Parts: sequence; C-alpha cells; structure tokens
Amino acid sequence: MAVRLFEGKDHASSYLQYRVAPHEMVSVIMSYIEKRKPKRSELAVDVGCGPGQVTVLLAPYFNKVVGTDVSQAMIDRALAKSNPPNTSYRQSPAEELPFTAGEVDLVTAMTAAHWFDRPRFLQEADRVLRPGGCLALLSYTMDMNLEYGDVSDALNDICQEVRYKS
Ligand SMILES: C[S@@+](CC[C@H](N)C(=O)[O-])C[C@H]1O[C@@H](n2cnc3c(N)ncnc32)[C@H](O)[C@@H]1O
Repeated sequence: MAVRLFEGKDHASSYLQYRVAPHEMVSVIMSYIEKRKPKRSELAVDVGCGPGQVTVLLAPYFNKVVGTDVSQAMIDRALAKSNPPNTSYRQSPAEELPFTAGEVDLVTAMTAAHWFDRPRFLQEADRVLRPGGCLALLSYTMDMNLEYGDVSDALNDICQEVRYKS
C-alpha cells in the first residue's frame, strides 16, 4: 500500500528550498542510457517529482519531460518555479500513471519509490516503458528490496551492481 506524506503546502515549500539536486546521479543514468541501442530520447517521466528540482535536470536530454506527483501542493510548487519549456507536471499516483503503454523512454523515481505501493508501481512502470526503456530508482538507502514477478533477484542484483560501480 502507498504511504501518503508530503502533501501539505508548507512541506512542498521547504522541500523546494532545501533539497540538494543529485546532478551526479542523473549523469550516471544518462551515461547508461547513452549506451543503449536503439536509443530514443522522446519522453522521460519523473514519478514522485515533488517540486521538480530534479525533474528539470532531465530536460536537456529528452524532447519532453513530465513530472508526476500524488500531491497537488507539490505540483503547484513545481509549476510556480522556473521550468524549461519541454517540462510539464501532472498530479497522479505512481500506481496509475497517465501514459499509454510503451510511450515512455525513461521512468525515474528519486528518493520517492520507498513511499509507493511498489508492486503496483513496478507494474505501471513496466506498462508505460517502451521495450528497452529504462527505470531508474534513486534512494539514499540501499536497504530497499524490489519484488516483481520472477525477476526480483535480477532487479536487486542490478541495484547492487549500480551501487558498487558508482
Ligand atoms: C522525498 S520527496 C522526493 C521529491 C523529488 N523526487 C526529489 O527528489 O526532490 C517524495 C515525493 O514522493 C511523492 N509521493 C509519495 N507517495 C507517492 C505516490 N504513491 N505516488 C506519487 N507520488 C508520491 C510525495 O508527494 C513527494 O513529493
């Protein structure tokens, strides 16, 4: 089940003020994607985007970037700040993403996936990502286990591999 926090206006303002944007982590994601063949850079979706400081870091690499968050207060803060013209925001739960199947090239969730209903979110990510698309989960902690069908071990091995390479 998803945990609903961060939804107040004050929380959204503090987050915008104090969140340090993880430029290096975005570089790790983009260098991974650069090596993918065929590469497509049409649409990136940042799920649980908060006020969008990290969402905008994706803007130089994609034709379109959409930040989504369950909290309307976070979306309002994201819209109120300066954003690149190819960036937009939508209020939506991570477990019901407003995209058609196979439409998305990159799904990110930055310090957010631990709040989601992860089995449902992973199912949604799998649905909206194109074949060969990329899911990037960023976290401050590595004690989060992923469970998804019969690929749970593979997903957790990939997380460990990225952890020790970065
Ligand atoms: C710790 S903040 C991270 C914000 C942003 N990703 C960042 O790194 O700056 C977590 C965000 O996830 C959102 N969130 C929590 N549960 C969610 C859910 N089930 N669906 C969508 N967003 C959710 C919260 O509203 C909050 O904005």
